Amino acid sequence: MLAVIKRYAVIVSTVLLCLVPSGHTGKKAVKCPSSCSCSKESIICVGSSYVPRSTPGDVSSLSIVNGTFSEVREAMFAHMPSLQLLLLNSNALTTIKDDAFSGLPHLEYLFIENNKIETASKYSFRGLRDLTHLSLANNNIKALPRDLFSDLDSLIELDLRGNAFECDCRAKWLMTWLKNTNASVSDILCAGPEEMKGKRLNDMTSLHDECISTDFIPLQSVTTESLSVDTFSHKNDVYVTIAAPNIESCMVLQWDHIEMNFRSYDNITGQSIVGCKSVIIQNLVFMIVAQLFGGSHIYKFDEDQSKFTKFQDIEVSKISKPNDIETFQIGDEWFFIIADSSKAGLSTLYKWNGKGFYSYQSLHEWFRDTDAEFVNLDGKAHLILASRSQVPVIYQWNKGTQKFIQQGEIPNMEDVVAVKAFWIKEDLYLAMTRYIGDSKVLHWTAKHFSEVQALPSRGSMILQPFSFKDRYYLALGSDYTFSQVYLWNAEDKVFERFKEVYIQAPRSFTVVSTYRRDFIFASSFKGSTQIFEHIIIDLSL
Ligand SMILES: *[C@@H]1O[C@H](CO)[C@@H](O)[C@H](O)[C@H]1NC(C)=O
Ligand SMILES: *[C@@H]1O[C@H](CO)[C@@H](O)[C@H](O)[C@H]1NC(C)=O
Ligand SMILES: *[C@@H]1O[C@H](CO)[C@@H](O)[C@H](O)[C@H]1NC(C)=O
Repeated sequence: MLAVIKRYAVIVSTVLLCLVPSGHTGKKAVKCPSSCSCSKESIICVGSSYVPRSTPGDVSSLSIVNGTFSEVREAMFAHMPSLQLLLLNSNALTTIKDDAFSGLPHLEYLFIENNKIETASKYSFRGLRDLTHLSLANNNIKALPRDLFSDLDSLIELDLRGNAFECDCRAKWLMTWLKNTNASVSDILCAGPEEMKGKRLNDMTSLHDECISTDFIPLQSVTTESLSVDTFSHKNDVYVTIAAPNIESCMVLQWDHIEMNFRSYDNITGQSIVGCKSVIIQNLVFMIVAQLFGGSHIYKFDEDQSKFTKFQDIEVSKISKPNDIETFQIGDEWFFIIADSSKAGLSTLYKWNGKGFYSYQSLHEWFRDTDAEFVNLDGKAHLILASRSQVPVIYQWNKGTQKFIQQGEIPNMEDVVAVKAFWIKEDLYLAMTRYIGDSKVLHWTAKHFSEVQALPSRGSMILQPFSFKDRYYLALGSDYTFSQVYLWNAEDKVFERFKEVYIQAPRSFTVVSTYRRDFIFASSFKGSTQIFEHIIIDLSL
């Protein structure tokens, strides 16, 4: 194609020297518009307000300079299918529309310089598989749509100098494309944002911003009130159990891979059910079912019948008001604890003996415990009990006696309803829920917990930490207003308000993940159980 370029250069210089309009320089058969000069193979127009209509069939180069048209519309040059070079410099162009150059299968050179182009449509250059040279130099381009150059299989040179690129999320795809393309690309200088000013996009490997946002969108609601939600996976299936006192059931749902929703799978019926907690021991799924009346029981998943069947009763002589069940392992041993919120009751630890769970240790008499949380502090097993009548207490597992021993308390933390431990990278935190006043985030340092953040609570029964793919959240329920989802700001090391969701009397937030998708189940004591999907939004164009 060098021949064309050379010929073109000669013609341009001749024409510009003689100055236009020069009228008919081509063959007599060709009608040449008055502002153009035409030869057999090329047309050059100066100050034109339109694209020449009737042209020689085999014209291979067209130049329109100093023209007054402002956009390149779809298939604007399709009547010149043999064009190999198209130059639209110094016009008044501000935009290029989709398929602007369709019908030009042989186009190799495209110059659109010194215009006022701010952006191009996503499919501006569709079909230009032979294009080797493209220049959009000296325009007003701030951003270009993703994959704009994806059809340009033959591209050798791209010139984007003299623009005002914003090197924010909108430039992310271009940055990646620059790394992979075989074409040689001019410097792309960033005009903004402030911290990127003057830098070359060509050199960058990451942008200031990660260009990702997330959201929680409603997926489904389960028309039953609920107190807590639990999840387990078994043989490639994901199950969710909802403690639903109003229908006297532990409602078992299964993720339906075909319908893409959660469907009812089984109901474990009982009396005044307050908690359903799964534990998987040697591939067997057990469900601990805590009830206010009629004792508590353990059910076992029966593969053949695809349902849960009664496995054992739990000895609950010292428990009269179960409020929370926590399961955990110490070494190879399996345990669960039921926190008892009655006045005379005792939170009780149960241990697996190979055949069933039996009561193992009683803890914390008279304190009306609301929540039990198992946590490893500096490699040692601990239990933290929250209660109505005193600050949270910490028990430590004693290897010698094989029992929990009270070790201390968390001072200045009255009225804690629930306590949840969570990790952010290497750091351990506690989320302390308080009903009215402030819920608290504590950080474990130098052998004690210190407060790092207070979150206003307006009737909160739960402050639940959870994370999806390196994003850490806290969901703070409210009985009187919206529940708040907070997002961890890793730079400032604080949780910031992220989203409000309305749930009637929320009691728990539980993460449920399938192979590809992440959900949060919000239980409601006065309405339906809400399922939200956690989605990722790519902010780059
Ligand atoms: C293009 O237009 C500018 C301003 O209108 C003018 O100064 C210049 O001479 C024109 N160039 C040609 C080649 O006509
Ligand atoms: C660049 O060239 C190499 C070697 O010819 C080829 O394998 C690769 O696919 C090319 N990359 C692109 C993005 O065209
Ligand atoms: C479980 O109970 C709910 C509510 O009563 C009902 O809609 C559902 O069909 C039941 N599911 C099964 C598997 O029996």
